[in-house]
Amino acid sequence: MISISTLQSSMKNQGGMNRRLWLAYCSSLAATPILGHQVSGAVTSHPKFDSDPFALGVASGEPTPNGVVLWTRLAPKPLEPFGGMNRDLVEVSWVIAEDEGLAKPVRQGKTVATPQLGHSVHIEVEGLKPDQWYFYQFRAGDAKSRVGKTRTMPALDSSPEKLKFAFASCQNYEQGYFTAYEHMLKETPDLVIHLGDYIYEGKGKDNQIRKHLGNEIDSLDDYRIRHSQYRLDPHLNTMHAACPWLVTWDDHEFDNNCADDISEEKNVDAATFLKRRANAYQAYYEMMPLRKRSLPQGPDMTLYRTSKFGRLAEFYILDTRQYRSDQPNGDKASPLNDETRKASNTLMGSRQGRWLKSEMLQSQSLWNCMAQQVMMGVVNVSRDEAEKYSMDQWPGYLAERSDLLNFVETRRVSNPIVLTGDIHTNWVNDLRTDDRDFNKPIVATEFVGTSISSGGNGQANSPFLDVLKSRNPGVKYFNNQRGYVFCTVTADRWKSDYRIVDVVTTPTSQVSTQASFVVENGKAGAERIS
Ligand SMILES: [Fe+2]
Repeated sequence: MISISTLQSSMKNQGGMNRRLWLAYCSSLAATPILGHQVSGAVTSHPKFDSDPFALGVASGEPTPNGVVLWTRLAPKPLEPFGGMNRDLVEVSWVIAEDEGLAKPVRQGKTVATPQLGHSVHIEVEGLKPDQWYFYQFRAGDAKSRVGKTRTMPALDSSPEKLKFAFASCQNYEQGYFTAYEHMLKETPDLVIHLGDYIYEGKGKDNQIRKHLGNEIDSLDDYRIRHSQYRLDPHLNTMHAACPWLVTWDDHEFDNNCADDISEEKNVDAATFLKRRANAYQAYYEMMPLRKRSLPQGPDMTLYRTSKFGRLAEFYILDTRQYRSDQPNGDKASPLNDETRKASNTLMGSRQGRWLKSEMLQSQSLWNCMAQQVMMGVVNVSRDEAEKYSMDQWPGYLAERSDLLNFVETRRVSNPIVLTGDIHTNWVNDLRTDDRDFNKPIVATEFVGTSISSGGNGQANSPFLDVLKSRNPGVKYFNNQRGYVFCTVTADRWKSDYRIVDVVTTPTSQVSTQASFVVENGKAGAERIS
């Protein structure tokens, strides 16, 4: 690493900062081993691999106006324990440049991939220009990764003309191909937001489109191998290399319908469950382009955070799984009874809830978007005369929901939008502080995106929409096909295009736009435009 004194003498001699030295100094700082502790022991600087150590590809995420996280993980045999790596510490070098040929590097450095973190690498690059695309690559020994593309966010005080991003969720490997990403790639989004169910934890089943390796996952190796199996999907792998992602999890990254330390299965004690959670969360951290602040501490991992696209849009990325209280009414679809209204029911937990409000109070953004997991619309999903609301979603947590939307309304949070995944269907919902009281004004607009593949092929026209609309005037749209949502955000309006693929049971398919909705600046509520 270049010393401060070298830099100082360079500046003295030349009467100013030597740009080359300054860049090298910043690179060497960024190359300091992650985790904030020194790596002891010999580092293998010229590792040899029998097969491509970068088979899992590259990814980037957490962009700011000046930086971004660059990710890779050395795994020459991704589906074997430890990814086919031994216990060595391995030197990995990286470069980020303005051009695809990497001829004009702006930052570069070296880091050490350690076995404790499955030889994953998370480089937090700083000192980049705002609102700019970059290219990056990793090397280990003679092996080179593919070249990834990423970008920074616009300056915080700027007013960018347009943001285009895609959001997605729920990609069950067994139930379909990830062809939606092939089409998303062609739209060159600035960002991808993944709202959870990135992997599914169940054991491999026969007679599916593809098969999970092994049994239901439990150990760290199990979770690592499952993540690797998913990331080897070529469309997912390529989409990660194409732009920065903001990720959050739902339940299946750990266990179906989990709530904090409570399993959906009755006979699992909290200590055992949390041990498994520590494995799940570590594997998630290792595989995602996250910052050090998300490094797991045992079974805990901080994932909620904000991300700003100049003053145009701000994302509040939420975690409604880790801190939630147990689903009321035994997690069975129920009427809105006293159990659903308990003040102690929480999806966010008090600390995250207070943080969210505090962030919203400080916001200078035109569009304020909560990127989260479960549906906020309080929707009666019964097909007959009964009243049935999902207890895993916000209807099971009514007091917290109305408190949040009341806050948004009374503090006049600018243009609130909610993005949701989880339920493998497309929805658009107008949100009120009490969705059952239609005299109340619309406070926010919710876009629920369908799954990438979970649920298999859907159906284009569902008579269920008419039933839903007749009982739930807040519901504007329902569709049961696979795909993603592409959003185009300007100062005037937010547009959500519901892209759907014909099928997910074949490796290729056509994409089309099933519906488009807009929210006009200053007017909550969605209008269908096609
Ligand atoms: Fe899901």
